[in-house]
Amino acid sequence: MYKKISALVLAGVTTLVMAGCGSGSGGTDSAGTSGSGDKKIVMGFAQVGAESGWRTANTKSIQESAKEAGIELKFSDAQQKQENQIKAIRSYIQQKVSVIAFSPVVESGWDTILKEAKNAKIPVILTDRAVDSPDKSLYKTFLGSDFVEEGKKAGQWLVDQYKDSKDPVNIVQLEGTTGSAPANDRKAGFEQVVTDPKFKVIASQTGDFTRAKGKEVMEAFLKANPKIDVLYAHNDDMALGAIEAIEGAGKVPGKDIKIISVDAVHDGMQALADGKINYIVECSPLLGPQLMDLTKKVLAGEEVPARVVTEETAFTQEQAKQALPERKY
Ligand code: AHR
Repeated sequence: MYKKISALVLAGVTTLVMAGCGSGSGGTDSAGTSGSGDKKIVMGFAQVGAESGWRTANTKSIQESAKEAGIELKFSDAQQKQENQIKAIRSYIQQKVSVIAFSPVVESGWDTILKEAKNAKIPVILTDRAVDSPDKSLYKTFLGSDFVEEGKKAGQWLVDQYKDSKDPVNIVQLEGTTGSAPANDRKAGFEQVVTDPKFKVIASQTGDFTRAKGKEVMEAFLKANPKIDVLYAHNDDMALGAIEAIEGAGKVPGKDIKIISVDAVHDGMQALADGKINYIVECSPLLGPQLMDLTKKVLAGEEVPARVVTEETAFTQEQAKQALPERKY
């Protein structure tokens, strides 16, 4: 009898100890807290849309990194519309998420919703794109590329290519989404470097960062302008659409019309390696791991830098051939 009772007590204690080990190794209890006693983190992420290869890679990076970091992700796709993003953010505030992260479709018009988040004591992290709000206390940090620098790199390649030529160089520009930070900044950075009057931007219009619109606008450019020497596209997708238009017009992309683009997604790099694009400035979409890291720091009350700039490079045709096999997106 005594032996039987001892065995039962021992079995009970063992069960309790094992249960303790289970939660200690990262399990989540019914109160929504992790075994370490930390409250479970819920992130509301309001994505721009699915307009480009870059965006697809960015979404994948955020979803995978959230999973790896043990962060519950509520994800919405705004289909490139600011009002959809605002609705999504408002809904995250109502759901009392721990943190809101988003990539603003355009730069302006965010103050009201950001103030609502601040009043609800929900920290906001900007990823990829900036807002033009003068009140920096409305968000904790901004993680993403330096788009002005990207425009400068694109412009510098052009200046170097034509340094020995005195002839006029006719440029057409496919701009990103009107009012978005990458469209504004890539244009501004390019203009800062391409100052010689021999360079003439003869047409510039938005292609909304999509392949279809890039093709459509380039077709119009080609019809209206008999002599185009260079295309500067604010992203690879628009450049890829434009390549179809150029080929459709019986011209050779990369030769008859030189093409400079931004992003360095797989399809863009392939076109660069194939000689259809001449130069690509990299813009990394792999922001997920840094975003999750910053989220944990912000929620732990740690200081984070106001601005975290992504490290990036640029590719020539030869460099693209070497980089392609290892390219992750
Ligand atoms: O904000 C980053 C830009 O958005 C990428 O360069 C473009 O491809 C995307 O749509």
